[in-house]
Amino acid sequence: MSEQREPVGVIGVGWVGLVTAACFAELGHPVVARDILQEKVDSLARGEVTIHEPELGDLVRRNAERLTFTTDMTELLDSARLLFVCVDTPPTYSGDADLSRVRAVVEELPEGSEHVLIMKSTVPAGTGESIRRDLPGLSYVSCPEFLKEGTAVADFMNPDRVVIGADAGDEDAAGAVARLYQPLGGEILRTDVASAEMIKLASNAFLATKISFINEIANVCEEVGADVAEVARGMGLDERIGSSFLRAGIGYGGSCFPKDVTALKMLAGNTGYHFQLLTAVVEVNELQKRRVVAKLQRHIGSLLGKRVALLGLAFKPDTDDMREASSLVLAARLQGEGAEVVAYDPVASERAGELLGSVEMAGSALAALDGADAAVLVTEWPEFAALDWAEAAGRMARPLLVDGRNFLDSESLRAAGFEYEGIGKKQEIGAPS
Ligand code: UDX
Repeated sequence: MSEQREPVGVIGVGWVGLVTAACFAELGHPVVARDILQEKVDSLARGEVTIHEPELGDLVRRNAERLTFTTDMTELLDSARLLFVCVDTPPTYSGDADLSRVRAVVEELPEGSEHVLIMKSTVPAGTGESIRRDLPGLSYVSCPEFLKEGTAVADFMNPDRVVIGADAGDEDAAGAVARLYQPLGGEILRTDVASAEMIKLASNAFLATKISFINEIANVCEEVGADVAEVARGMGLDERIGSSFLRAGIGYGGSCFPKDVTALKMLAGNTGYHFQLLTAVVEVNELQKRRVVAKLQRHIGSLLGKRVALLGLAFKPDTDDMREASSLVLAARLQGEGAEVVAYDPVASERAGELLGSVEMAGSALAALDGADAAVLVTEWPEFAALDWAEAAGRMARPLLVDGRNFLDSESLRAAGFEYEGIGKKQEIGAPS
């Protein structure tokens, strides 16, 4: 028998919580994961994973012996000293993070608890300090998550870095958390709680800034006849800049960037500091989603009564997550211009259907393109690269495609008979000869 690993508790079995629970189980730890939703707990106990995240379902089923799902807080508290808090912190109307679920967890902890509360949820800097004030005996560690949807399991297992924030008196707790992550080999950064909280917010805000920056460069490229992909390639060769996150497109979405950028802006604002740069980052991102409409109008004039097909709806490939997806704004804007919108996504159609009631959902990309006056590639799903574009051109009323992710090969599309326009490329006005 191998030596028993430290038990791990997980509170909140959403996307972050489930990845955390399954990955620690894979590393050999007994894991108890607690959620307030009985239905979710029951289906996970049966090995059913409803979120689309590569490898996650297999991991849950393979480690079923080490994974317990429960709604019972006492069972969790009795089973593990180290408790990861993975509840969500959605934005409130004011743009601040909603901490009610975090507070509810803290209230369930008994006074004098000797547990270690490890905060994975993204919280404003200062949250850890206020929780420690409320529960003096409790050990508190901030350990923000940096997982990307679609590659979360791989990101967990091969982290760039693990940030562990603890204040005076919690050094042992921080050490226990560091030991959990040691086998993964990423750099472990030990710091104070407030700095750990800021690292998370600042990292996401910086990445979002990179995207809005390259999107503005793309918009200028269109005016001056340059190609943003070439510009990004040249910029990225400078080590100080780096080549990642310089893909121009129709803006960032997802459960993190929009929420965290606003939360940081608000956090600064609440202290009296105006974070001007982030205001621009958000505005550029909003306008970027809308620029596609003008591109279509330049080719076909008024969109009234025109049938526009959206290829891809999820905020990025390999996920069915529709939170803050650019497709939501784009579909509404197109409908606002009087277009008839039809859409297809390989996995997010069902989730999207609930949000986009008046959008017609097609069963395949070709079905979506059938009879369409124009198409927009919104999410760069690999299956779109493999589509028979010559057949697609034949099916469309007008083979016009705006590639919102610069994903497809423009030459092949044009050879297949398409009017093709990307983002940040020289513009092609009018129909091909
Ligand atoms: C992000 C962070 O990367 C992760 O570290 C954090 O913990 C959670 O938020 P995620 O939301 O899964 O992860 O998506 P990510 O892959 O970072 O992409 C976010 C958005 O930016 C997507 O809409 C994507 O299409 C867009 N994006 C990304 C670009 O438009 N251009 C790029 O160059 C990169």
